[in-house]
Amino acid sequence: MKVLIVGGGGREHALAWKAAQSPQVTKVFCAPGNAGIAADAECVPIKADDIDGLKEFAQKNAIDLTIVGPELPLTLGITDVFEDAGLKVFGPSKEAAQLEGSKIFAKNIMQEAGIPTAAFKAFTNAGEAKAYIQSLGKPVVVKADGLAAGKGVFPCRTVDDALDAVERIMVKNEFGEAGSSIVVEDFLEGEEASFICFTDGTTVVPLPSSQDHKPIFDDDKGPNTGGMGAYSPAPVITPELHDTVMKTVMQPLIDTLARKNIKYKGIVYAGLMIKDGVPNILEFNVRFGDPETQPILYRLQSDMIELIAAAVDERLSDSTVSCDPQPTVCVVMAAGGYPGSYEKGLEISGLEDANTVPDAFVFHAGTANDNGKIVTSGGRVLGVTARGATIAQAIDNSYKAVSKINWPGAQFRKDIGKKALNR
Ligand code: AMP
Ligand code: GLY
Repeated sequence: MKVLIVGGGGREHALAWKAAQSPQVTKVFCAPGNAGIAADAECVPIKADDIDGLKEFAQKNAIDLTIVGPELPLTLGITDVFEDAGLKVFGPSKEAAQLEGSKIFAKNIMQEAGIPTAAFKAFTNAGEAKAYIQSLGKPVVVKADGLAAGKGVFPCRTVDDALDAVERIMVKNEFGEAGSSIVVEDFLEGEEASFICFTDGTTVVPLPSSQDHKPIFDDDKGPNTGGMGAYSPAPVITPELHDTVMKTVMQPLIDTLARKNIKYKGIVYAGLMIKDGVPNILEFNVRFGDPETQPILYRLQSDMIELIAAAVDERLSDSTVSCDPQPTVCVVMAAGGYPGSYEKGLEISGLEDANTVPDAFVFHAGTANDNGKIVTSGGRVLGVTARGATIAQAIDNSYKAVSKINWPGAQFRKDIGKKALNR
């Protein structure tokens, strides 16, 4: 089987690495890939949102299965275009991808399916949104409706902050069209976790739980990033909570979409906020999490390609997921300055050394090959991942590998996995 992975970050390195291990796979391509992916796949210089370019490549190279990493091509309709061309593709249809592409769509589906989520109101008018915020007079979260590269969500502790968020999104148009409508919702407290599943549109098969670390600095300080580290499993998701989420969130979601004739084959990812053992849904994503995929796939013992093929062929009901019981941890190493502006093209040292640390592996995210030298090419640069007999051991092993790697300005959080240790 020839497989094409779309994307070029840490998540896609994990996908390419895992795909290459499948006995069914003869060749992996990745578009556009990165310097680390090049060890597991042939990288082709096609951008992840160049749907026609990707389709042409898949046709010319007789690709048997395309796996879409990021959300953008999904919301642009890559699945519909590939299916119309008779190509097998893993990812929801354009209509279903609105679950991530439109916060209002997601909230309405949640309401219809009876999924627990923060109370909300949607607005297309800034004045009305501001009046509503003033009438509430309490902490709220203001969210641009459309995709805003993870930057369109403003958790606001004060009314003034919330009014300012409306101004930035709807009046100053900081996110363009994505901010022409917004959601204002109640501010939820608790601990976040990621719940990521395969679905074929009928059956939902969960992967192990995980937890991301969004803020840039230790102890969840500073601005949000794409994710500075993750571990799996997340002990905040107890077996009872796991059952509750399957029964009250994942299955009702897929059943509701199916009832509305909205086709969904792919990954469905619920962002949970958990307080006193009770989950609320913050968001849905329509693809694997980044960096959660790195520690999850590092644990996965099942053939990922078999699971994906089962989802695409609508036979997931016969599938189970088996995982190494040992916990895994991924520490993201980022460029100095990230999530603000940062330098690119800096040579990274110590990568080979890091990969000799037992039970550790370095997934590449923003890296490029510059005449044989591995250099930085993005904000999140590496996902240094390790397993251990205990979470403490896994944390230790990842930081051991991190300590071998360097480039000017490299930054990483020192507390990845601490919440699991505290439990
Ligand atoms: P989202 O993209 O909707 O998941 O939002 C990004 C981040 O904003 C989440 O991971 C949370 O940390 C925070 N967030 C979103 N919605 C809420 C909410 N209702 N209450 C508190 N924090 C939230
Ligand atoms: N790690 C958060 C995300 O993938 O959206």
